Amino acid sequence: MTGSPDKRWVARSFGSAASAYDSVAVLQRSVGQNLIDSLPTWSGDGFILDVGAGTGHFSRILQDVYPSARVVALDIAEGMLRCARERFLGECVGGDAEVLPVAAGSIDLIFSNLAIQWCASPVTAFREFHRVLRPGGYLLFSTFGPRTLQELRRAWAQVDAFSHVIEFHEVKILQDSLSVAGFSVDKLEATAMVIEYTTVMSLMRELKALGARNLTADRPRHLTGKDAMARMISAYPRQDMTGSTSIGASFEVIAGFARRSAGACRS
Ligand SMILES: C[S@@+](CC[C@H](N)C(=O)[O-])C[C@H]1O[C@@H](n2cnc3c(N)ncnc32)[C@H](O)[C@@H]1O
Repeated sequence: MTGSPDKRWVARSFGSAASAYDSVAVLQRSVGQNLIDSLPTWSGDGFILDVGAGTGHFSRILQDVYPSARVVALDIAEGMLRCARERFLGECVGGDAEVLPVAAGSIDLIFSNLAIQWCASPVTAFREFHRVLRPGGYLLFSTFGPRTLQELRRAWAQVDAFSHVIEFHEVKILQDSLSVAGFSVDKLEATAMVIEYTTVMSLMRELKALGARNLTADRPRHLTGKDAMARMISAYPRQDMTGSTSIGASFEVIAGFARRSAGACRS
């Protein structure tokens, strides 16, 4: 599908970004902390799965919040897991959110901060989450919506026909996917924001440092030439109201809270 991520590249890119990730993941920390602030009141007697755990920052916080729980950090990128093993001393497992290496009905709470946008299909991921959660189990996740990096997407569209930004799903699609997977949704909300960068290149460098490069299956396979990059930069809108040369990058953060209902998935 156009704009779908290529998973081998996702694993490789995040793996090689792992050592620098924590120093640049400012938005990711703030979004994840909002999820942590919304954790349910629960005894913690059971299993927690942190899906797309990255360097294990939130796996460790989950363990602090629920000291009696067994927290498992799962990620597709081996490089991320190496960092997670150092930072989070609990169990770290390699795996794909869409094919979890976890027994059915064995998990009490799934936490997933800004990872499922890298999945091929939200409904496949939510079905897997539903399969591994016990009835009544909790799902707390965040992801990006379609307004994310819209300026960058539009600027590249003026240069070539390749996909340069992955496809992000809107709230309605996530809502339907959750309900098809069998979840009852307590809350699903989108928050839009614009982050200022000094230049387009500083935005591009941050995305690269995060591991969030252009990892779409139909990305250009050749190195981006200087000419194409210069044309994209000149097509990127400037925040010229103040006369400043800085640029704004839109992000749409979607946070979801759902419970696994007792019944099976709808097909
Ligand atoms: C933006 S990082 C977020 C990391 C962490 N949750 C945090 O908040 O710091 C996204 C993470 O999702 C992982 N990821 C991407 N696709 C995945 C998949 N299909 N299955 C499991 N992990 C995946 C990446 O390797 C990366 O570590």
